[in-house]
Amino acid sequence: MAEKLYKWLDARLKLTSLSHTLLDEPIPGGVSWIYVFGSATLFLFCLQATTGMFLALYYVPSPDTAYDTVQFIQHEVLFGWFVRGLHHWGASAVMVAIGLHLLQVYLFGAYKRPRELLWMVGVCLLLIMMGFGFTGYLLPWDQNAYWATQVGTNMVASVPLVGDVLVRVLRGGDTLGALTLSRFFAVHTLFLPALIVFGIAVHLFLLRRVGPAGPWSLEQARQRSEPFYPRQVYMDAMVMLGVFLLVATLAWTVEFPLADRADPADHTFTPVPEWYFLFFYQFLKYMSGPLEPLATWVLPGLFILGLLLWPLIDHNPERRPSSRPIALAAGGAFLLVVFALLGVSLWNLYTLPKTDPSVARGKAIFAQHQCVACHRIHGDGGMVGPDLSYVADRRPDRQWHIKHLRNPQSVSPGSIMPSFPLNEKDLNDLTSYLLNLKSESHKS
Ligand code: HEC
Repeated sequence: MAEKLYKWLDARLKLTSLSHTLLDEPIPGGVSWIYVFGSATLFLFCLQATTGMFLALYYVPSPDTAYDTVQFIQHEVLFGWFVRGLHHWGASAVMVAIGLHLLQVYLFGAYKRPRELLWMVGVCLLLIMMGFGFTGYLLPWDQNAYWATQVGTNMVASVPLVGDVLVRVLRGGDTLGALTLSRFFAVHTLFLPALIVFGIAVHLFLLRRVGPAGPWSLEQARQRSEPFYPRQVYMDAMVMLGVFLLVATLAWTVEFPLADRADPADHTFTPVPEWYFLFFYQFLKYMSGPLEPLATWVLPGLFILGLLLWPLIDHNPERRPSSRPIALAAGGAFLLVVFALLGVSLWNLYTLPKTDPSVARGKAIFAQHQCVACHRIHGDGGMVGPDLSYVADRRPDRQWHIKHLRNPQSVSPGSIMPSFPLNEKDLNDLTSYLLNLKSESHKS
């Protein structure tokens, strides 16, 4: 029965010759586990596309609804949290897979003649992927999303001459708002997918035209060759399965929490970008002041251009690593810098005392209610009431503060401090801020 069907289809679609074309591609030097990263990347891309389609069923890209619809996906939709988890961890995994693929191609000198175009299209695919990461990060419309995107778009504004126009195009106006969100959503789900599918097609087409590069030793490559099917297909499939299990385990066990809803008025929030942009974020911190343009566009621009044209810059035809000391040293130095920056950034994130968001809000409430009119903090403010620079040293008790703020006279008879109309949350945040004013943490 199955055979009959196959024959029927084969007679019409020429399946036999198609499977020849797809599966019998010879791999010089034979199959290897080291060639799996390209397929792993492709697989993860498909995973992102699929999970993204399901997320789009519920997500509504507007400032009024984006955050709530993501909450809805996370808490109400059946397995919504899992699909969102897959999409989140898949995005990270795709970056790792591309990184490894790039590393393998670089180490093997597989970008050299005749594969220069293959490399260049690959670099474009990497840039598109980063575009996915950047646009996707805004979509949940939480504090992190909003302020990280603010940092990102402000960087674009620093480009001379065209920067202003560019950033307006990016935001869809003067400020980050509703138009930015719908724009990022359209780019994330329509423009970039179209572009990347085309790019992947060209990448694969070029790969089939020039063939896989194989090992760096020419003798080894000439000695034998092995078709793509079955062994390489098997290896690729195993890796895809492994990658899926890994991403699914992460999605199942590690929830990716939403921050608070985006609040464009809250300038106290310090955003943290995705880990694959962290090294760059750290770099930006070092390059403040007059050096800033160097970090925001000069060096990234030169780097991308250099990466794109790398096969033309490094035209030494030798592929063996031992004969390419400069290329390998350059690659190694770059990785060293990136990982050092990433390390410092992670170190800072996890060891420096974090500003509790409640403390930050409390600080804002303090400013809003004119507490400074009577109270001095680190040299700023009035002298009617006591200096509050280290108030928590004297008064470490939360209940005392809440009682005092509700009605100063109740704990401090005869006090001239007015009571303020604060709700529970404000009261709590304000107290968190006051309790944070102590001598050993006055730096933060
Ligand atoms: C009109 C001036 C005035 C304003 C405005 C004012 N305070 Fe006071 N505050 C005082 C005075 C006077 C005292 C000392 C008497 C007391 O403890 O109530 C005081 C005491 C305090 C203390 C206790 C300090 C200590 O060392 O015992 C805290 C905490 C405090 N204020 C917080 C605030 C906050 C928060 C606000 C803003 C919501 C605020 N105050 C606004 C006058 C003011």
